[in-house]
Amino acid sequence: MIFSIDISALQNITYIFSSILFISGIKMLGKESTAVKGNLLSAIAMLVAVGVTCIGIINPLILFAGVLMGAIVGSLIALKVKMTSIPEMVALFNGFGGLATFLIAWSEFNNQPESIFQSSLIMITLAIGGITFTGSIVAYGKLSERLKIAKTSIITKIFTTIFYISISFLLYSIFITPFLAPSFEFFIVLLVLVLLGGIGFVLPIGGGDMPVVISLLNSFSGIAAAFAGLILLNNVLIVAGSLVGASGLILTIIMAKAMNRSINNILFVGYASSKSKSNIEEQGEVNPISVSDAYLILENASSVLIVPGYGMAVAQAQHSVRELGELLEENGTDVKYGIHPVAGRMPGHMNVLLAEANVSYDILAEPEDVNPSMDAVDVALVIGANDVVNPSATEEPGSPIYGMPIIEAHNAKTVFVLKRSMSSGFAGVQNPLFFKTNTRMLFGDAKESISGLVSEFKD
Ligand code: TAP
Repeated sequence: MIFSIDISALQNITYIFSSILFISGIKMLGKESTAVKGNLLSAIAMLVAVGVTCIGIINPLILFAGVLMGAIVGSLIALKVKMTSIPEMVALFNGFGGLATFLIAWSEFNNQPESIFQSSLIMITLAIGGITFTGSIVAYGKLSERLKIAKTSIITKIFTTIFYISISFLLYSIFITPFLAPSFEFFIVLLVLVLLGGIGFVLPIGGGDMPVVISLLNSFSGIAAAFAGLILLNNVLIVAGSLVGASGLILTIIMAKAMNRSINNILFVGYASSKSKSNIEEQGEVNPISVSDAYLILENASSVLIVPGYGMAVAQAQHSVRELGELLEENGTDVKYGIHPVAGRMPGHMNVLLAEANVSYDILAEPEDVNPSMDAVDVALVIGANDVVNPSATEEPGSPIYGMPIIEAHNAKTVFVLKRSMSSGFAGVQNPLFFKTNTRMLFGDAKESISGLVSEFKD
């Protein structure tokens, strides 16, 4: 008896210690210089929490074998994955988190819930875990472009209907069935419905919005874990689940704000209504420029702001961009990078690419830092960015992206836009920046154009 009290006290003290490590780890993720340590700290906290939970309830050999298997599979996947595929990996990890809580809820139902409250907790955990599991698998399929089912297809409509039925069934099971003691058959119906409902939740959402959905599913996986912690009365699961739930939700809100879209619009409406090939003729003429002429202007510039976007990722031009930045600095030019929070297709997309190319974090600046002094910038070099520099967001109240914060590259003395054609960006709206008198279009693949500029500097 005394021994069991000691174990429980030891577990709770260790849980507090792990929770402190989790919170410190998350805080350290906020800065590039401490992010790796923060990640390691949180991983150690998780290992300690899992280890101490298993004391006395499981054969240590089975525990060791489980941890070893998980560590090998996790490490292999993490080592193999490309930087740009991290969101897909996160989607899968969220899915496994959801599956784990789904299984906990299932097993607790089999143990016969003792109260109405516990029965409701089990239903909620089962639903959030199940929706997170299958929803994350669909998100993974969409993001990796393995799953291509149109938003308007009959399959999508069937699954979406199942999603709404599963939510209604869940509400029914929480508010009505506890008083009737849910039967095993009832439970199995709910279980199947939430698994299919998860597919229906994500299937109608466009592939481009998947990063936001993955962040939301990440939050769901945390919330499900916190509910599982309440069922099992496990403190560390409640703390860790709440941390993941809250941070995932904050990230989702930040992304939605940076796109000036509500979460409702992202999940249930999308940009579809704004897709238009738009009035290129009405906007006026564009002024193309050659690599050699662009070089002459850059060579004389005292300040250059590089604004990368999704096209830089497509062209994989980050290494050439870093080289050009260094050559400009050697030439006495002040070089900065303007990074928009939703440039690219995943959170921190540009930061990840530029870090991979060893661009110093010190010269990366956010829109609010670069916009006030934009008129002093000699050349804004827009590399494969489009929506994030679209002045319609500030000038055209009718535009679908009106209100989205942008990098105001159009206020620089000269703007070079590097892209392959006049096609629109993710939001599907034309960009008046391309037609401004201070803008020069450098058409072509971003990597080829930047490499051309690098060669000019070297010659
Ligand atoms: P976009 O507006 O999508 O524009 C990218 C531009 O890159 C395109 O206009 C394209 O024009 C050009 N491009 C593509 N391949 C290229 C290549 N090889 N060389 C040169 N140019 C190339 O990109 P953005 O400005 O980064 O904006 C991001 C958009 O994604 C925003 O609307 C944002 O709301 C949305 N979004 C972001 C996220 C996150 S978390 N980052 C998540 C979901 C949605 P051409 O085809 O003419 O070359």
